Amino acid sequence: MKILANTSFIFLFILSHFVLDVVCSRDFYKILGVSRSASTNQVKKAYRKLAKELHPDKNTDDPNAQEKFQDLGAAYEVLADPDKRALYDKCGEECVKREGGHSDSGFDVFNSFFGDFGFSFGNGGNGGEREVAKGADIVMELSVTLEELYSGNFVEITHNKPVAKPAKGTRKCNCRQEMVTRQLGPGRFQMMQQQVCDECPNVKFVSEERVLEVEIESGMRDGQEQRFVGEGEPHIDGEPGDLRLVISTTPHPRFERRGDDLYTNVTVSLTDALIGFEMDIPHLDGHKVRIVRDKITFPGARIRKKGEGMPNYENNNLFGNLIVTLDVEFPKDGLSQENKERIKEILNQEPVTKVYNGLRGY
Ligand SMILES: *[C@@H]1O[C@H](CO)[C@@H](O)[C@H](O)[C@H]1NC(C)=O
Repeated sequence: MKILANTSFIFLFILSHFVLDVVCSRDFYKILGVSRSASTNQVKKAYRKLAKELHPDKNTDDPNAQEKFQDLGAAYEVLADPDKRALYDKCGEECVKREGGHSDSGFDVFNSFFGDFGFSFGNGGNGGEREVAKGADIVMELSVTLEELYSGNFVEITHNKPVAKPAKGTRKCNCRQEMVTRQLGPGRFQMMQQQVCDECPNVKFVSEERVLEVEIESGMRDGQEQRFVGEGEPHIDGEPGDLRLVISTTPHPRFERRGDDLYTNVTVSLTDALIGFEMDIPHLDGHKVRIVRDKITFPGARIRKKGEGMPNYENNNLFGNLIVTLDVEFPKDGLSQENKERIKEILNQEPVTKVYNGLRGY
């Protein structure tokens, strides 16, 4: 009796595990290594990092590489889409599949982050390999705001990529110069150079719309670029070039960047300049930087806030400084005779008209 109870318990246990496995087979949050409250940007960032690590071309000795890569792609597809993510949070992967299925190929997503045509993984390009004809790179400026460079962002860009499609007929290809020898008569030969070509199936280029996910990484500097392999000009006998997006910062109304330091200007009233002040400067991500000053402020005085500059590109935990240059606004209305006397009494200053700065050295 006891044994029976035990076996049925085990049976139930196995059954419940089986059911559980079918209903929520994959934990997408775990696959991407993000928390359940992660923002879409954090999901994209996690995907972009893991996709490079887990790409099957880079893990040829792992028999499960393909599967892991596909899991990652599926996790990304669902969690980066607010509608699918909401469904997934409510009732798991099965729900998402039922409501509008996902492709599960893994490579489509990957290509939107890196471009396609064989990801080279920076192994020194094609050193040693036969030189393959390559189309030109397309270099484009990517305008980004200082806010994006501070916090990091992903932007989608759509571009039309010419893709080779089969066409009717054949074309000459692999053309090269060859020496041919012709006998003109007994003992007389002529050597000449001649162009020799093969016949290849014809192709035509068709524009295909592509959506690329460009990561603007925290702390990137002007001139840095994101490269999309194979998204450049096509080459009829070889590989297409790359698309290179070069970061260019749009001017900001309040902050100026120099290296990792930020500069801003603040004007205070003459009263505040004399008695001191406290203020909050809204930063690029909205957080407030508190400025407190007891000392008297002269026009051009500077306050340096450590660690409130831009994040360093190489190490996002390091930040530059924020340098606030202060200007003083003087009152426009004149003072009454009585107030003039009072100010004279309060400030008790030596007459400044004695100093002729402009003429020093003459
Ligand atoms: C601050 O003021 C100086 C002098 O007027 C100017 O050159 C600079 O561009 C200003 N900086 C910002 C961030 O507005």
